[in-house]
Amino acid sequence: MNVLVIGNGGREHAVVQALRKSPKVEKIYAMKGNAGIGELAELVDVDYCNPTVVADWLDAHKDVGYTVVTPDDPLALGVVDELEARGHRAFGPNKRAAIIEASKAFSKELMKKYGIPTAKYETFSDYETAKAYVETCEIPVVLKADGLALGKGVLICKTREEAQDGLKEMMLDKKFGSAGNKVVVEEFLEGPEVSCLAFTDGKTIKPMISSCDHKRAFDNDEGLNTGGMGTFSPAPFYGEKTAKEVLEKIMKPTVYAMNQENRTFKGVLYFGLMKTKDGMKVIEYNSRFGDPETQVILPMLKTDLMEIFEAVTDERLDQVDVEWHDGACVCVVVASGGYPEAYAKGKEMTIGALDEDIVLCHAGTAMKDGKLVTSGGRVIGVCAKGETIEQARQKAYANVEKISFEGMYYRKDIGIKYRDVERE
Ligand code: AMP
Ligand code: GLY
Repeated sequence: MNVLVIGNGGREHAVVQALRKSPKVEKIYAMKGNAGIGELAELVDVDYCNPTVVADWLDAHKDVGYTVVTPDDPLALGVVDELEARGHRAFGPNKRAAIIEASKAFSKELMKKYGIPTAKYETFSDYETAKAYVETCEIPVVLKADGLALGKGVLICKTREEAQDGLKEMMLDKKFGSAGNKVVVEEFLEGPEVSCLAFTDGKTIKPMISSCDHKRAFDNDEGLNTGGMGTFSPAPFYGEKTAKEVLEKIMKPTVYAMNQENRTFKGVLYFGLMKTKDGMKVIEYNSRFGDPETQVILPMLKTDLMEIFEAVTDERLDQVDVEWHDGACVCVVVASGGYPEAYAKGKEMTIGALDEDIVLCHAGTAMKDGKLVTSGGRVIGVCAKGETIEQARQKAYANVEKISFEGMYYRKDIGIKYRDVERE
């Protein structure tokens, strides 16, 4: 079967590499892809956030039998709805279900209504009311812009002044655009964080292996929030006991809740969780594979990814054994100097001879006049497997050194976090 993959990041390169291993998959097309994806797929330069444009392209390419939609924007804009309406098979939630990520106010209400553990919160659409609340609420406090804001619409405020300034930035100055029309003000939780992704067809939910992201730009979680500077898998504090708690108290109730709300979710549900002293709590939901979580998860997947995708579409996920390799995987993201703020593009890159089992996930790369150049803030992810996180970590860093371009930077501490947290 020929498959179209929508997106152009490291996550999509990881998906394309996993699909390439499937005997079911013949040709792969990618909208818009990048230089790494271009080695495995035919790149298509089409505006994938426009549902009509994507569906028109598929109508004109009858050889494509399946489309995988991974980024949040096309999902929230209803690309899957349009494809299905025109008879195309696609992986990813429809617009009604993708709201679980697209609106934090929606997801908080859902959790409250169905008793899914999360931080206490209030939602405001009026600035003066929010301001009055923040004058007396407990500090630290967390402010969240309601809509999609590239993972940057969250402010952890350690003082009341910071909270008041943040509120003004979101609601009056519109720092995150219309995403800040509504703001969720929530209780500050403490504990190690873990990303737990799961495949679901709306009836069955099958968790993937756990992973930990590093959202801040610099070592020791300093600097600005980014899309993610590296990941490792599995989380050492996420053992069988916690996984069972999450499956029973969070994952299954979420699938149930979405069905009850007439918003059946089919695709990948991403649970951003915190292990607090009162148990596991949901920090956020995403309606898709995480980036860069996917880069450490899919290399560990034993089962054919295409088989899982089709089982989700056909609502027979209960019949598929989703199996994983033992061991660990670490991904170090190499970024352009300045990211997540202004950064240079078009810098020529060189990649030396890497160890054989390294998986490179290209993000912001392109080919220009036959040369590999940078084209984004997060440029490339270097992923290594090992028996332990420490082994994988050392291998990843030994290979990061073989990549070079002007202004490159990366965190030196991916995989170190949570070493001291009690293992399970
Ligand atoms: P989000 O975009 O919702 O994942 O939030 C970004 C980051 O902010 C999370 O990964 C957490 O580190 C942090 N965060 C979000 N909500 C809370 C909370 N209620 N308490 C503490 N930290 C939080
Ligand atoms: N790594 C966080 C995300 O994909 O939202």
